[in-house]
Amino acid sequence: MLKHSLAAAALTAGLLISHHALAQDAPAKSDQSTTEAASAPRDPALKPVFDEFGGKPGLVTLVNDFMDNLMADPVTRPFFANADREHIKKELVDQFCVILDGPCTYTGRDMASVHKGMGVNRTNFNALVEDLQTAMNKHGVPFRAQNKLLAKLAPMHHVIITR
Ligand code: HEM
Repeated sequence: MLKHSLAAAALTAGLLISHHALAQDAPAKSDQSTTEAASAPRDPALKPVFDEFGGKPGLVTLVNDFMDNLMADPVTRPFFANADREHIKKELVDQFCVILDGPCTYTGRDMASVHKGMGVNRTNFNALVEDLQTAMNKHGVPFRAQNKLLAKLAPMHHVIITR
């Protein structure tokens, strides 16, 4: 419980940091929305974090548990129950791998198109993030490394949350 509260607090901090960074760094509005809508760009500074996740094999086992958590969670399950979960897992692994500067290519669709019309709200989004945090804790991903990834994912809420 305490772990979760801490993690939630850290995510909020991550959200704030990301917003701040985006507000300062984004040279143009179109740049910012393109980045968020597409996925997050590769960040060479996160290569050590990629190793802390156990490289690509670590991401594969992490995302397996992440999807199990999404299916066990009554808030997120309805979204994934009839989806191609094997395909989503593959795309998530590639997406996380690219963000963490691993040797991967993300060939999935952009975040805005994928989630358009799904009717995701803030509660759904936060539940998914918690399910990811639970999986990262289970895999012993260091807290600092967890937050580096979450800070990249958090700004995507702009295009994923549509109601
Ligand atoms: C930062 C948060 C999120 C990230 C990084 C993310 C990432 C992704 C990725 C990479 C895919 C696969 C794209 C593809 O097939 O080309 C996907 C699909 C999907 N996502 Fe998300 N997602 C996020 C939040 C959510 C939330 C909050 C929900 C609902 C609770 C959700 C529901 C889905 C569903 C149902 C699909 C399958 C869509 C389909 O096959 O047509 N996602 N997501």
